[in-house]
Amino acid sequence: MKEIEFTRDVDHTLAAMQEHGLLLSSAGADGRPNVMAVGWGCPGVIWGRPVFVVLVRPSRFTFGNIEATGEFVVNVPGDDMHETCMYCGTKSGRDVDKFAERGLEAVAAETVGAPLIGQCVRHYECRVVHRNDVVDAAIDAEIRSQAYAKGDFHRLYYGQVLRTAARE
Ligand SMILES: Cc1cc2nc3c(=O)[nH]c(=O)nc-3n(C[C@H](O)[C@H](O)[C@H](O)COP(=O)(O)O)c2cc1C
Repeated sequence: MKEIEFTRDVDHTLAAMQEHGLLLSSAGADGRPNVMAVGWGCPGVIWGRPVFVVLVRPSRFTFGNIEATGEFVVNVPGDDMHETCMYCGTKSGRDVDKFAERGLEAVAAETVGAPLIGQCVRHYECRVVHRNDVVDAAIDAEIRSQAYAKGDFHRLYYGQVLRTAARE
């Protein structure tokens, strides 16, 4: 993995997120890695820092991991990883070891405890610098009925990107 500029190929990151989702990896307090698909998020600049915002519902196993560690990695899958994204977006780390089941390679990150996924093409290592929840009383009514009919309002994690890396 080599370090690259945060802004490099960000258009591809956004396209991949819309196409099949990105892979959000985290680790529990015990170090056990997990991965889930994320389709909603924003790479951008806030507080003069590169930040990747991800939206995670409290019902996700990943939620507890990020609450426990304050760290995560956003991995951009290759175009051949569509099935892996669907698997990681429909199975929970409560029930299965998704790294083992999908043969994903956990590569040590340089700045956080959450692992990079070796098969992915780009990685954003993030430390949570802010978090807040979607506010029921403030959300657009149409979005509320589409996304929050059952509650489970997302928590937004603002991850300062400490390092962006790409496969050599
Ligand atoms: C393409 C795709 C995108 C998804 N995006 C999100 C998302 O942005 N936020 C979220 O909370 N769940 C999202 N999900 C659902 C989670 O990935 C799914 O519930 C997953 O099983 C959670 O895994 P975990 O329990 O191991 O954390 C998405 C699912 C798919 C298939």
